[in-house]
Amino acid sequence: MNRKTFLKYTGAGAGFLLAPSVITSCMNAGSNDSDVYGFPLQFPDTLNSDQLQASRSNLTIAEQYTLDGLQFNGSLPGPIVRIKRGERFHVQFQNDIGQESIIHWHGMIVPPDMDGHPKDVISEGSYPYEFTINQRAGTYWYHPHPHKITGPQVYRGLAGFFIVTDDEEQALNLPSGDYELPLVIQDRKIDDSGNIYYNPSTPERMMTGYLGGHILVNGIPNPYHEVQPRPYRLRLLNGSNARIYNIAFRNGNSFTVIGSDGGLLPQPVESNELLLAPGERADILVDFSNGFSNNSAELISKEFSVPSNGGMMGNMSQLMGQSGPEQGSEFPLMEFRIGNEADSSAPIDLPRQLSDINFPNEEDAERTRSIELNMEMMRGHTINGRQFEMLRVDEEVSQGDTEIWEFINNSAVPHPMHIHVVQFKVLSRSGSRGLLPTETGWKDTVLVMPGERVRVIMTFDAPKGLYVFHCHNLEHEDAGMMANLKIV
Ligand code: C2O
Ligand code: CU
Ligand code: CU
Repeated sequence: MNRKTFLKYTGAGAGFLLAPSVITSCMNAGSNDSDVYGFPLQFPDTLNSDQLQASRSNLTIAEQYTLDGLQFNGSLPGPIVRIKRGERFHVQFQNDIGQESIIHWHGMIVPPDMDGHPKDVISEGSYPYEFTINQRAGTYWYHPHPHKITGPQVYRGLAGFFIVTDDEEQALNLPSGDYELPLVIQDRKIDDSGNIYYNPSTPERMMTGYLGGHILVNGIPNPYHEVQPRPYRLRLLNGSNARIYNIAFRNGNSFTVIGSDGGLLPQPVESNELLLAPGERADILVDFSNGFSNNSAELISKEFSVPSNGGMMGNMSQLMGQSGPEQGSEFPLMEFRIGNEADSSAPIDLPRQLSDINFPNEEDAERTRSIELNMEMMRGHTINGRQFEMLRVDEEVSQGDTEIWEFINNSAVPHPMHIHVVQFKVLSRSGSRGLLPTETGWKDTVLVMPGERVRVIMTFDAPKGLYVFHCHNLEHEDAGMMANLKIV
């Protein structure tokens, strides 16, 4: 196995920006190869209760780190909700964390009082959720949504998968059970005594967001997982506050992208890297029987560049916001240790057409809205010049209308923009990046790099009421980079 490139992560490029503790811990990891992937991956249980209780406790992670943690039903990450299209979901959210909170079902199309709007926070007691699943199979997720404190609550442990299945997807016979792996990737800052801490500086809050130097997958630092030499389905979720990953295998092996935020893509797409921004999901198939040597497949985040925009301002914000490895640095994520035999090695017979999707046509759009993302001195990030106000209606759309929204990033940092209760199709992106494999399907979160204009199209079919859209960099969101969307 070639781990030489791992050292790049501490290399001269980013080195001078790293806090000393980060440098030390990374160099230790790099110099002692066999310790990089030291702990077995774990999976949260499936939710089998009608209660989701958020509580607080001091946790020890992988025998070495401590966290003043928040958990759903005592689990980190939260239990996995598995539900089929057409079924009714009901759960009582019980808030025992001593702080305001409310749950949002990210990517789900639900009535306004079920969506976890920040105005619906409760500081104690319970909030009943009940809605019918009426949308495509896909990898959705849930997390808290209180104004100004979503970042710390997600960071301390409140997040879980919300997996929807349907007949169309089941007919494909994709790898399931032990061969389907939900993986939530999160970066963390860890101090010299092993405490995972959340303490963003003003520049982190205002500019880069909170970027850690250590990776957790399903709550375990750089885990390993034993797999068989056969195809697996990986449901990837970037549950980080601010860090973007460029998903790849160390040896450059390709994988097959089959799904995005809103479920199956029309067609599978082969790729050997895939950008995944906070809030985004990707469903990929990996064949561990093919192309990996030494019985090992290392999943990494490959180096990528963030386009600079705004010259001096851009450089300033990079420098000032920095206290962990910068956005775009290379990271080891986890290792798959490939066994010698597969229980059942039937190759999957993937059809060329995974799903028949009718995306809305541009000609059918009722209107186009410009959503400008700016960075303002002394104020931080704004959407169309404003910061969040709890009840001010920022955009009003008519139920059933199809609209094009154009996100224009005039700032110097990336913004993964997320709209509640819709799935949209990305139409175009200015510049040279083009569309990603995941952007051939339905999305609810889209990465808008500095200087880019990204156009998306969607039909607002959700029940009438008040929802939000926002940047899914949680420090940006908490600092007010959020707006109200009213469906009338
Ligand atoms: Cu995943 Cu409004 O958020
Ligand atoms: Cu959401
Ligand atoms: Cu942002």
